Amino acid sequence: MLQGRFTSALSGALIVVTLTSCSPSGASDRGPARSGTAGASGIGDADFPTDGNGGYDVGHYTLALGYDPASRRLAGTTTIDATATENLSSFNLDLRGFTVDAVTVGGRSAPFSRSGDEMTVTADLRKGVPFQAVVTYQGEPQPVRDSSNLGSYGFIPTKDGSFVTAEPNGAKTWFPSNDHPADKATYDFRLTVPDGVTAIANGELQGRPASSGGKTTFVWRETHPMASYLATMTTGNFLVKTGTSEAGTPVYAAVDPRYQGQLTRLYELSGRITDYWSTIFGPYPFKSTGGVIDDYASGYALENQTKPIYGGFEPDEGIISHELAHQWFGDSVSISRWKDLWLNEGFATYAEWLWSEHQGQGTVQQIFDRHYRNAEDPIWNYPPGVAQKNDLFNNSVYTRGAMALHALRTQVGDQTFFTIIRRWAADHQYGNATTEQFTALAEQLSGQKLGELFGQWLFDKGRPTTLG
Ligand code: ARG
Ligand code: ZN
Repeated sequence: MLQGRFTSALSGALIVVTLTSCSPSGASDRGPARSGTAGASGIGDADFPTDGNGGYDVGHYTLALGYDPASRRLAGTTTIDATATENLSSFNLDLRGFTVDAVTVGGRSAPFSRSGDEMTVTADLRKGVPFQAVVTYQGEPQPVRDSSNLGSYGFIPTKDGSFVTAEPNGAKTWFPSNDHPADKATYDFRLTVPDGVTAIANGELQGRPASSGGKTTFVWRETHPMASYLATMTTGNFLVKTGTSEAGTPVYAAVDPRYQGQLTRLYELSGRITDYWSTIFGPYPFKSTGGVIDDYASGYALENQTKPIYGGFEPDEGIISHELAHQWFGDSVSISRWKDLWLNEGFATYAEWLWSEHQGQGTVQQIFDRHYRNAEDPIWNYPPGVAQKNDLFNNSVYTRGAMALHALRTQVGDQTFFTIIRRWAADHQYGNATTEQFTALAEQLSGQKLGELFGQWLFDKGRPTTLG
């Protein structure tokens, strides 16, 4: 699903396509019409030019995949239900590694070629017309291993299964996709693993896992639009606890046996913090909540939709509150381009500070002041509203992004501030949004000109003097 501003940014390009394609509308009814153009190999994010693809909008993915931890072999099909947004002669999918055995479009075999992490599928598609592509593939997943910056991410084989965390562009390491958060979609997962292994995905389990011939199939469904980097297929030996939070949201918690002592704590904290955030940010946007602790030492956590994952450590309340706040900010309201990442990380970090204060520990003001006092902090050299593509998750996006929100709160007052935050979550629920939309909303609801404040906190180098 393409949303809002991002779609309108593409409309200039659509006009060009319309002018250069001479076919009358409805040509698809009269047999092959070779009037479309090749879909772009990137969705149009200037900082990540080959991420995602142009010319179509995915509505739904159906992933029917088997994984065998012993051989590290992933095999199956990805079915993509999409709509062309231009007349196309071909379109691209992002896929890294694997052997592709077949591609069909509309039930017919379609020629394809591969180059790096791009796959090009030849098909005549009409603007506005839905189509279904099915990709059959197999092989050993090749996660991205970035030694300088992002660490390892994507589909990471572990000793008993897989640890799947794909931010920013690692969905392509396990399924062919439009791998960029600007194109969100709903998901069905049919995950087959050896008996005794648990397969965890987003959303809710559909019925009891069924076993046959030594293998068990887990069916999961995420009915709310999701960015590709939030999709997961985490497998292995897990202890699972399910139930319902006090406010009535289903909770699914799973831990590797090494973290057995954490299961009840993770389950309870995840439910309690989800309930608390609903009182601050507005209704919880998804049908279930939870968390997963695996024993793979990723060095980070990820806010996988409905099921944040913690890689090889006992998460403290700060990080659990951070990942659960992302369910509103990042997962439900998603960015359309990576330079707006502070809208995810600044908000989730601010939530950590709110949780600290709520717990009777350091107040938000104390935490803000401590960071502000540190004149030597490198965050003053990195404005958070500008993508550092070689250091995407830099501390400024987190800490200075959170400080920008506190400066706003100080400027507009508590009541207006929390109204802005709730309106942000409500207005863009399940969609995509930009920094410009956030600053415009803040100005609208406060009735104040905030250009100087946001300029200093988000876009300018140096330590801001506008403290709100
Ligand atoms: N969004 C995650 C967080 O909440 C960070 C993800 C980092 N990704 C990576 N490949 N290192 O902090
Ligand atoms: Zn985060």
